[in-house]
Amino acid sequence: MREQLEDIKREAVAALGGAGSVAEIEALRVRVLGRKGRLTEILRQMGSLSAEERPRAGQMVNAVREELTGAIEAKLEKLSKGEQYERLMRESVDVTEPGKRAPAGKAHLLTQAYRDIREIFMGLGFQVREGPEIEYDKYNFQLLNMPPNHPARDAQDTFYMTPDIVLRTHTSPVQARTMLSEKPPIRILSPGRVFRVDDIDATHSPVFMQIEGLVVDKGVTMAHLKGILATFAREYFGEGTKTRFRPGFFPFTEPSAEVDVTCIGCHGEGGNCRICKGTGWIEILGSGMVHPNVLRDCGIDPEEYSGYAFGMGVDRIASLKYGVTDIRLLYENDLRFLKQF
Ligand code: PHE
Repeated sequence: MREQLEDIKREAVAALGGAGSVAEIEALRVRVLGRKGRLTEILRQMGSLSAEERPRAGQMVNAVREELTGAIEAKLEKLSKGEQYERLMRESVDVTEPGKRAPAGKAHLLTQAYRDIREIFMGLGFQVREGPEIEYDKYNFQLLNMPPNHPARDAQDTFYMTPDIVLRTHTSPVQARTMLSEKPPIRILSPGRVFRVDDIDATHSPVFMQIEGLVVDKGVTMAHLKGILATFAREYFGEGTKTRFRPGFFPFTEPSAEVDVTCIGCHGEGGNCRICKGTGWIEILGSGMVHPNVLRDCGIDPEEYSGYAFGMGVDRIASLKYGVTDIRLLYENDLRFLKQF
């Protein structure tokens, strides 16, 4: 029996020495010390011993059990500390490592430009009004002093859905809609997509984006128009920007003016600047005093009220500011281009 015990002890100690994981040791503990383990088996054999031998045998078994239990506990502790440490290392977070950036989208350059422009005009007391892109001929042309067969319609050829429904050629129909539905004082900004029959090239697109402004009140003059647009130009293009008004023609304004700003490339120097072709100026919008016919047709008495309006191409203004030389880039949605802004 003593020999058996010695064997068990030796084997167990050897197995313990070779065990590399907590699981292995647990298995060993069950095999040797468990309810069906080898030590328990030996205890069962004690029945065949004499009454004198039994206590000594019991002592021996217990001694081995205690010794092995102690050894197992010690090894377990050592191992689990090691495993814990390993796990800690494996699962630890290196707070000094740079984070992974989640890809985030952002607004298209045209949207950014629109928001910037809107911000400026909202600061000047304008409110946003929108209108439909598919528009009645009545609002797009007739109420804007362009009756059927008016020659000015040629310059704004468009896509006809039916003889009296068109894709709007400008945001000016929102002027008419607003005057018909609201009473002065009116002070609005209307952004949106517009359409023209145009061949696509670096400066033309059959779809582009405009922003319209309209102010109608008592005593509104061209001086107000100039003041607002000069302020806008300085806010959008920079403090030193100057504005120039040239006579122009639009059927719905009288008088009308084309508005230029000092070239952002050469700051008005001209010379051999490629952006302004040496003139020092760049046209950014059309404007004028609302034609009395337009006011009258839209239910506003031109004897009592006057107003001004202006319309700008967001594409053009954004391209100028950010040095985009081909308007097509704004519509091709190539991320390599868009990500730059
Ligand atoms: N609607 C004109 C255009 O598209 C611009 C404009 C708007 C001119 C308002 C004067 C007043 O060309």
